[in-house]
Amino acid sequence: MTIRKAVFPVGGLGTRFLPATKAIPKEMLPVVDKPLIQYAVEEAYAAGIREMIFVTGRHKRAIEDHFDTAFELETELEAGNKRALLALVHAIKPDDMDCVYVRQPRALGLGHAVLCAERLVGDEPFAVLLADDLMIGREQASGGATVLQQMVEAYRGSPGTVLAVQDVPRADTRRYGVVDVRGVDQPLAEVYAMVEKPAPEASPSTLAVAGRYILTPAVFESIRRQPRGAGGEIQLTDGIAALIGKEKVQAYRYRGTRYDCGSKEGFLEATIDLALANAELSEAVKAHIRRVLPT
Ligand code: G1P
Repeated sequence: MTIRKAVFPVGGLGTRFLPATKAIPKEMLPVVDKPLIQYAVEEAYAAGIREMIFVTGRHKRAIEDHFDTAFELETELEAGNKRALLALVHAIKPDDMDCVYVRQPRALGLGHAVLCAERLVGDEPFAVLLADDLMIGREQASGGATVLQQMVEAYRGSPGTVLAVQDVPRADTRRYGVVDVRGVDQPLAEVYAMVEKPAPEASPSTLAVAGRYILTPAVFESIRRQPRGAGGEIQLTDGIAALIGKEKVQAYRYRGTRYDCGSKEGFLEATIDLALANAELSEAVKAHIRRVLPT
């Protein structure tokens, strides 16, 4: 079955990025010139997905506006014959892409956010993308696969749940869902244990889940059955973990870089790397870095 739908849980409060996120959603923070949510939507689109489902909350209107027509702006650009800018604005939402929105009434956790999308997803496999994990595929800049594209490929070869994973320092396991796998030398490996935010000494491994998932519809019922997990939240990890042994749950070591743009360090790293990779900016940015960091 093809993956036609992507869920973007964007209902969080973004407290780690206050004061910037007091009045704008954290997913609207720009890296170089594009908001985080647009990177994630473009990644899903590149993977062949055309239905984008946003699980929003209060104060998230800017996201809906971003993917809607901007009548006044577009009229002005047309009148001024600013073709390139107009194309840039239109490309945010290609004509064959649908955006639908559902509200998460209370911030009860990632599992709960995914459950809010159940009716819109229906009975088919789907992707989940966490926009504050900005993912750049290793060969993406030269036309290679995005991380979600790589995962959809892996799913085609072996249908079932597919989780994007990467190695992290043991001291950091408390920040992630962590999996234990069989067949560690393969990019796609079967998961036999999964736990949310384990303490380093109790963590089953150092293979951490990044914010990209391909899930099966069975996950909805599975999440519903879980008691509240780490941090008192309804955890997606617990819902997936309960499927192990009943369905195929797999971890995929993606080729690429993950920037944790929910943290200031990660956000700055993404900004620097993407500015250096941008043809219009790289020379100026390099010159500036040389000036402030003399060797
Ligand atoms: C969420 C998930 C966690 C995953 C992480 C990736 O945690 O619960 O399993 O490893 O995203 O970014 P959060 O960052 O929302 O605390």
